[in-house]
Amino acid sequence: MNIIVTGGAGFIGGNFCHYMTEKYPEDTILCIDKLTYAGNMETLALIMDKPNFKFFQADIADRESINKIFEEEKPDIVVNFAAESHVDRSITDPEVFLRTNIIGTSVMLDACRAYGIKRYHQVSTDEVYGDLPLDRPDLFFTEETPIHTSSPYSASKAAADLLVQAYARTYHLPCTISRCSNNYGPYQFPEKLIPLIISNVLNDKKVPVYGNGENVRDWLYVDDHCIAIDLIIRKGTVGEVYNIGGHNEKTNLEVVKTVLAKLGKSEELISYVADRLGHDRRYAIDPTKIHKELGWLPTTTFETGIQKTVDWYLNNRTWWENIISGEYIDYYEKMYGNR
Ligand code: NAD
Ligand code: TYD
Repeated sequence: MNIIVTGGAGFIGGNFCHYMTEKYPEDTILCIDKLTYAGNMETLALIMDKPNFKFFQADIADRESINKIFEEEKPDIVVNFAAESHVDRSITDPEVFLRTNIIGTSVMLDACRAYGIKRYHQVSTDEVYGDLPLDRPDLFFTEETPIHTSSPYSASKAAADLLVQAYARTYHLPCTISRCSNNYGPYQFPEKLIPLIISNVLNDKKVPVYGNGENVRDWLYVDDHCIAIDLIIRKGTVGEVYNIGGHNEKTNLEVVKTVLAKLGKSEELISYVADRLGHDRRYAIDPTKIHKELGWLPTTTFETGIQKTVDWYLNNRTWWENIISGEYIDYYEKMYGNR
């Protein structure tokens, strides 16, 4: 099979390309990525020369380029990871989120309609459900939870999900959607919480914690997300949404303290800074459906996953040092300079 993976030079898409090229030597992975600030060819270095991997630099919102790839490669399956993915950036500059996450998705859907595919899979997020109150630990996001977004990022992802569902119903396009909780693991861009903590600490910088650090995220090791998507595209039911999460809720402060302890550093490095605008309080996934229907369960505990992640950043300094020495310096100053 020919499988298009968009956003494959990013964090989760990159891990997915590694996973799929290794697991299915008989399939060809066709990676499409625009190589924005978040895309990195170094993430694909270990698989670039594999016979079952091809890379195309293209923008998913560029209809002509996308149609050309479909015409030439005749994909069977499309997995759409490509997105602007950072909430803080969406708050300072929403427009590019609309272009990539909404228009880009519509261009991919149109190409699937025009050329025909066996499955289109949309990689969405639990953030489309909004947030849960901190004092109701009994509440979880199910696939029936209404969409109720908070940030320009989550609004753009929700719009994309609705388009996918519209194409499924109106044109009978064989689509599935997955909504996963926060991922962590190798190759995550250092603007996100866990790699930001690690890279700051290893550079003797303070660790900025928004607000009081009591916001809760439900953390999943990236390999478990990849396994879930692979299961959905092969065995999931067309037209369905699947939530993905491993019941692993932590406050941000717990995460920061765990990483500091792993690196043998003092909690005095924590610096409380102004809160994110509209900051979602708690995300928590109910993964019953994907467990019952597809037999998925997470395989990596937080304890093991965070150790693997810290070790990876310690052993792959060049990967992230190249990133934080570039335009990231300006980004960091803009985001955190006067916070
Ligand atoms: P990322 O920012 O690390 O990577 C995004 C990739 O998409 C980059 O390689 C970038 O170059 C590429 N890209 C951006 N705009 C593009 C465009 N117009 N055309 C082609 N490529 C483009 O993001 P990530 O964390 O790997 O997230 C991947 C997907 O998973 C996103 O759709 C995101 O919404 C979703 N998701 C992420 C998380 C998480 O915790 N990171 C959780 C749930 C869902
Ligand atoms: P992030 O990694 O940006 O993911 P998301 O916003 O999609 O959940 O942030 C995770 C949590 O960590 C979120 O509650 C915001 C918080 N956070 C900080 O406290 N400090 C930081 O510097 C960053 C980047 C995030």
